[in-house]
Amino acid sequence: MKLVVINGSPRKKGRSRIAAIYLADTYKAELIDLSEYQLPLFNGAEEQSELQAVQKVKQIVKEADAIVLVSPEYHSGMSGALKNFLDLLSNEQFANKPVGLIAVAGGGKGGINALTNMRTVMRGLYANAIPKQLVLDPICFDYVNTTVKEEPALLMKHLMDELQVYAGLYIDVLRK
Ligand SMILES: Cc1cc2nc3c(=O)[nH]c(=O)nc-3n(C[C@H](O)[C@H](O)[C@H](O)COP(=O)(O)O)c2cc1C
Repeated sequence: MKLVVINGSPRKKGRSRIAAIYLADTYKAELIDLSEYQLPLFNGAEEQSELQAVQKVKQIVKEADAIVLVSPEYHSGMSGALKNFLDLLSNEQFANKPVGLIAVAGGGKGGINALTNMRTVMRGLYANAIPKQLVLDPICFDYVNTTVKEEPALLMKHLMDELQVYAGLYIDVLRK
């Protein structure tokens, strides 16, 4: 089963990146880190889709059996970096695939708008955003060890357990 985790934060020192690295390490997933990838701003030009960096992320997502999107909530939506990344891709990479959604918010009861925004966009890509979803507030992080605390780690495990069930169904029934 091939899992891919996408860090949707452009901030190298962002909390989303901590969560995404934790997930990738713990669940042996491939990480696409948008704070490191140099991807162009989508402009619809054909030559853009030929760029090596764009081809590479397309290939990684295409080979995935399940995907986790970890996005900061910025102004009540997913990050611009993640939306741009998704605009560079298409349902060719996403169709029928289970996707887990995690929003990293500021702690003022935010996060749900980014989750709903990601869910809407996943439908647009014909992906299957799973029911379980998660908001991580600043309090969820262990800043000394640059990781997530025990309780949110358990909630992430529950999300990953559900994602792996759907990934099994995808592999058995929907993968062509
Ligand atoms: C431009 C900007 C907009 C933000 N808007 C929201 C928001 O709408 N809701 C919220 O809960 N937090 C908001 N925040 C706080 C971030 O979600 C929070 O700092 C989170 O940790 C950002 O993820 P990152 O550290 O991975 O970049 C915003 C932060 C920035 C920089």
